[in-house]
Amino acid sequence: MSVINVAKMGDPCLAMKAKPVNDFKNDELQKNVSDMIDTMRYYQGVGLAAPQIHLSQQIIVLEVTDNARYPEAQPIALDILINPEILVFSQQQEADWEGCLSLPGMRGRVLRSESITYQAMNLAGESIKQTVNGFHARIIQHEIDHLNGILYPQRIEGLSDFGFEESLPAFQQTEH
Ligand code: NI
Repeated sequence: MSVINVAKMGDPCLAMKAKPVNDFKNDELQKNVSDMIDTMRYYQGVGLAAPQIHLSQQIIVLEVTDNARYPEAQPIALDILINPEILVFSQQQEADWEGCLSLPGMRGRVLRSESITYQAMNLAGESIKQTVNGFHARIIQHEIDHLNGILYPQRIEGLSDFGFEESLPAFQQTEH
């Protein structure tokens, strides 16, 4: 098991566009994905993007089990998406609280599409297309932003929707 230090906001690796994965038949890809899963689970994330562990590659992982950081979230099975791309964003949007392992202890309320249709490759290099909604759609939008060098504070409308979780009255008052 390899847990990697997660890059924090301000690290230039988080502001770069990640490179597409072209070679699916190498051990390096498998090892990188394993490290990402180990790191996500260790830090109790619900998703992780490769740039967060200093890898400029278009890979995201996500999984929701019983998670102390997101106690109300419905379970989502472990998923590995390579070269993901959002094909359709629903016009309907929802504002909700997000956190990020690159901004420990902080939360921000972010407006995202309620549902998305995405296309990605799996670890075997096969193409997958899926429509997801709610928190699942939010996680994928957040993680794909990482692949484009975008962190969630860049999507927050006002600073009253951003801060440390123990200090934010609006976050405390929300059911979550
Ligand atoms: Ni994040």
